[in-house]
Amino acid sequence: MANKPDPCLLTIFGGTGDLSHRKILPALYEMSAMGQMPSGTLILGVGRNENKTDEMFRRDVEESITRAGHQNQKDIQKWCNGRVFYQGIGKGTKANFGTLKSKIEALEKKHRGTGNRIFHLAIPPESFGPTAKSLGESGLNRSTGWTRVVIEKPFGHDYKTAVALNDVLYQYFSEDQIYRIDHYLGKETVQNVLAFRFGNSIFESLWNREKIEKVEILVAEELGIESRADYYEKSGALRDMIQNHLTQLLTMTAMEIPLAFEATDLRFEKVKVLRSIDPIEEKDVVLGQYTEGEVDGNGVRGYRQEADVRRDSKTPTYASLKLSINNWRWHGVPFYLTTGKRLKEHKSEIVVTFRCPPVALFKSKAGRGTQPNVLVIAIQPNEGFRISFQIKQPGTEMAVEPEWMHFSYSEAFGPIPEAYHTLLLDVMRGDQTLFVSAEETLESWKLYTPVLKHRHEILFYPAGSWGPKEAEKINP
Ligand code: BG6
Repeated sequence: MANKPDPCLLTIFGGTGDLSHRKILPALYEMSAMGQMPSGTLILGVGRNENKTDEMFRRDVEESITRAGHQNQKDIQKWCNGRVFYQGIGKGTKANFGTLKSKIEALEKKHRGTGNRIFHLAIPPESFGPTAKSLGESGLNRSTGWTRVVIEKPFGHDYKTAVALNDVLYQYFSEDQIYRIDHYLGKETVQNVLAFRFGNSIFESLWNREKIEKVEILVAEELGIESRADYYEKSGALRDMIQNHLTQLLTMTAMEIPLAFEATDLRFEKVKVLRSIDPIEEKDVVLGQYTEGEVDGNGVRGYRQEADVRRDSKTPTYASLKLSINNWRWHGVPFYLTTGKRLKEHKSEIVVTFRCPPVALFKSKAGRGTQPNVLVIAIQPNEGFRISFQIKQPGTEMAVEPEWMHFSYSEAFGPIPEAYHTLLLDVMRGDQTLFVSAEETLESWKLYTPVLKHRHEILFYPAGSWGPKEAEKINP
């Protein structure tokens, strides 16, 4: 049974930013509308602008919540008026943090707050360390209640910078106060990977090298980089997606059965997977970048033509890697991680291909040989899963073809909660199960930092395709 969430004051650094307005604030409203937000919870948006007032910020928040699909204007307005506030942080000087501290203390006093504080750093990655330091130096990390800090991704730029960021955080916060977000862990379908594997006994005996031929993890996006060139140019597909989201999907698919569904046990098993992965060889990596093309019938420009991108940029917008998990369960089974922007379809899935029957007794109508069973866990969209079976096709001939059995979340349950709703509620509850530990982050960077140093050629692919053809060489 989950802990009851405590009321708190949630301060969002980057309160005026895109992430806050697209995801965080609508998720908080949703949480409240579903009666899950503890009463007395206050939200304080922090942004650079020192001229913005509580009132102005509330109107922005109302708009964002409406844009996210919520319709009850009166309720949204009431919700904002009662609990949403704003503080400008300017350049983030000592004096600015002093003003922020006074605002927080005044709000806590006026609203008879518990002293429980969450600081959500929804800001550019290079600001995580300095902001944590300012929080510590201004004494905001010490209060009469608990204090927790939420850090967005990417956590570090490589192994060394991740170590350095942990060091800064540890000066002012302990590991149990640090919530490293990977929003994929908040997705229902990602958590369902564990429910699927460990809540059903029929798969466990098949989930190994004896029965599985290969595992493919794909996160394909139709979107380009939107207006995030500044961030993306420094990041690229390896740091933006592979090191975190796809690696989380990989560890959840490959991990051993944890002792319990709790942070310590889950994290322990995930780290074991990361430590079992062989160093990634240069020949097993394909990197690409989109050029002009067509997505969904619309012409789109190439990456190098996007605003604020260098015309000779070598930043990869596509990455495909082959990994080998060298442990008893997975030895010899290739895991493929593939992600890209401006691909043909928006689709994230884990595809598990089982081994073919050893002897081909049946023919297929199309004259194909034996086909394997395939399990597709659809992370998004059309959340659910499907599994293929060889079925005898009606008729006098003994011919088989694969047919699919489906499960669809939307058919079974209707809409499912947003990842940020689940994750922020967990922070309020003090439950770190769906957050990334320091050790996981470091093990993951140990794996990918050498890949960042490889001298890969960047292969171009037209927007709206499935990426560079060369990727077929590593996953024939
Ligand atoms: C973010 C990346 O973490 O995840 C984005 O920075 C990416 O580049 C996004 O588009 C994908 O998330 P989702 O939930 O839309 O799959």
